[in-house]
Amino acid sequence: MRPVIIAANWKMNTTPADAGELARTIAGRTREADVVRVICPPSVCLAAVRDAVVGEGIGVGAQNVHHELAGAYTGEVSAPMLAGLATWVILGHSERRRDAGETDALIGRKLGRAVEAGLRPILCVGELLDEREAGRAVDVVRAQLAGALAGHDPDTLRAAGLVIAYEPVWAIGTGRTASGADASAMADAIRAALRDAGWGSAADDVPVLYGGSATSGNIAEFLAEPAIDGALVGGASLKPDEMAGMVGRAAITAAARRAADA
Ligand code: 13P
Repeated sequence: MRPVIIAANWKMNTTPADAGELARTIAGRTREADVVRVICPPSVCLAAVRDAVVGEGIGVGAQNVHHELAGAYTGEVSAPMLAGLATWVILGHSERRRDAGETDALIGRKLGRAVEAGLRPILCVGELLDEREAGRAVDVVRAQLAGALAGHDPDTLRAAGLVIAYEPVWAIGTGRTASGADASAMADAIRAALRDAGWGSAADDVPVLYGGSATSGNIAEFLAEPAIDGALVGGASLKPDEMAGMVGRAAITAAARRAADA
């Protein structure tokens, strides 16, 4: 049975002065059983969020890590530096692919660092609008997965709890979403790609999240799809009402899965 996960990507929002309060408010309003909740604040807010959610069962995640362990990399944060601050990490977000020029190969190196450091990775993939319109969405996502996962042992990644987030770039921050059916089809394609890459039936255990303008108003469309295991949420994750709505709906899916598994 795959978990149901609602992960908040706060991106470059909040400060150490206000992040803890926001995290505490969200924690208090999302206490439904069986939903895995993760908050990924800016790196300078990790300590505040960690302290704010002690005992709440919420995972804290970074939004990136460097591909080297230490050295002359001004402004960067390495995976070992996150010890005690984060237990999850987002990798390969499309905003980093776009703004920091991250390639699939580089993301693959980051993945290795994350896993070595015991961080649970959320690997982001997703196509651009013109790629979808050209009918190439699945090919693009398969190539992103192949590039990032090359050289990684499936058993190691599975033990690390690898999560894949399908985030169509055209849906991020636009108010436009993929349809539940399209997201589900991509989740199937992602697991098929993992199977082809030697994962075998372990591919079926990998959680696949949807991301891109997810809100409390549209989350049900995604959670109604058995292939989708939750959401990676940007803008709406900064709003406690929205988080409460999304986690509340996720709890219904989690309970249904538990019942079906019993
Ligand atoms: P929005 O929910 O703001 O569209 O962002 C999605 C995202 O990029 C999460 O990583």
